[in-house]
Amino acid sequence: MRVPVGVKASVFALLIMGSYTYFANSIPQIESKPPQELSLEGGNVTPAQLVKAGEEIFKTKGTCEICHRIGQAGTRAPDLAGVGSRAATRKPGMTAKAYLIESLIQPGAFIVPGYPPIMPAVDKPPIGLNRSELWALTAFLESLGSTVDVKLDDIPKTAGAAAAGGGATAEVKIPGDAKAGEQVFQGKGGCIACHKAGKIGASPVGPDLSQIAKIQTPDYIMKKILDPRGMGTVAGFPPGVMPPTFGQTLTAKEYTDLVSFLLTLK
Ligand code: HEC
Ligand code: HEC
Repeated sequence: MRVPVGVKASVFALLIMGSYTYFANSIPQIESKPPQELSLEGGNVTPAQLVKAGEEIFKTKGTCEICHRIGQAGTRAPDLAGVGSRAATRKPGMTAKAYLIESLIQPGAFIVPGYPPIMPAVDKPPIGLNRSELWALTAFLESLGSTVDVKLDDIPKTAGAAAAGGGATAEVKIPGDAKAGEQVFQGKGGCIACHKAGKIGASPVGPDLSQIAKIQTPDYIMKKILDPRGMGTVAGFPPGVMPPTFGQTLTAKEYTDLVSFLLTLK
C-alpha cells in the first residue's frame, strides 16, 4: 500500500510532538502551584465538607459541566443524577466507590453504552486535579444517590496532578505557530465551515471548539484531526461528517500550527 506523503509527515509530526510532550512533562515545575489548588491531606474534614468541596470542583476547576448535567440528560455525556448508587451496578465485582474513582482517572476502562469515549482523565492536563481534589470529587459523586465513605487512601497514590511530579500543571509545548494555525483553520483546513472557535466562525454543523483545550487533551485533539472516526463521534452530532482526509491534505507544518491554535482555545 502506498502511504501518502501527508500521512507520513503527520506521523512524523506526531512523533515530534510526542517527544516534546514528554520533554515538557519531565521538566520539573519551578513555578509555585496555582492558588486555587485544594489540599485536604492531613486535615480533619467531615463528609459534608468534603462533598461541598467536591461540588465546587465539579462546577469550576473540574469543568465537568461542559459535558455533564445533574438531573438533565445531556447529549455529550450521561446525566450524573443517581450515579452514586448506579455505580455499584456498572462492573460486576467492582464496588461503587472503585468504579467512580476509575471513571475519573481511567475513563476509558468502562464506556457507558451509547456514549462516545471522549471523557478525559481528569487528573491529567488540561484539567489536572490533585489527589485531594479527586477525593472530594468522589465524595460528591457518592453523595448523588449513596452514602459517602471514600477515604483519601482509596485514591491511588499514582493518581493526581501532584503525583505526576507537577507535570500535570506543566504547559504542553507544541512547536507550532498558533497565529499561522488560525489561518489554516479558516483557510486551507476549512474547519470554519463546520466549527466555531472563539471569535471566529459560527457554523453549528460541528461542535463549538471555543473551549476545546479546556475539555480535551492535546493527544485527543491531534488524533481527532487525523482520524475523526477512530476517536468516536461527539454525541449529538452525526458520524462521518468530519472529513478523514486532513492527514493527506495538510502539510506537517500546517498540522502542527493548527494544533497549536486549537490549544489556545480555552
Ligand atoms: C469532554 C466531556 C466530558 C468531561 C469534561 C467530563 N466527562 Fe465524565 N463522561 C463523559 C462521557 C461521554 C461519559 C460516558 C462515556 C464513558 O463512560 O467514558 C462520561 C462518564 C462519566 C462517569 C460514569 C457515569 C456512569 O453513569 O457510569 C462519571 C462518574 C463521570 N463521567 C464523571 C465526570 C466528572 C466528575 C467530570 C469532571 C471532573 C467529568 N466526568 C468530565 C464525558 C465527559
Ligand atoms: C464538514 C464539516 C466539518 C469539517 C470541515 C471539520 N469538522 Fe471537525 N467535526 C465535525 C463534526 C460533525 C464533529 C462532531 C462529530 C464527530 O465527533 O465526528 C466534529 C468534531 C471535531 C472535534 C471534536 C470536538 C469535541 O468536542 O470533542 C474536533 C477537535 C474537530 N472536529 C476539529 C476540526 C478541525 C481542526 C477541522 C479542520 C482541519 C475540522 N474539525 C473540520 C465536522 C467537521
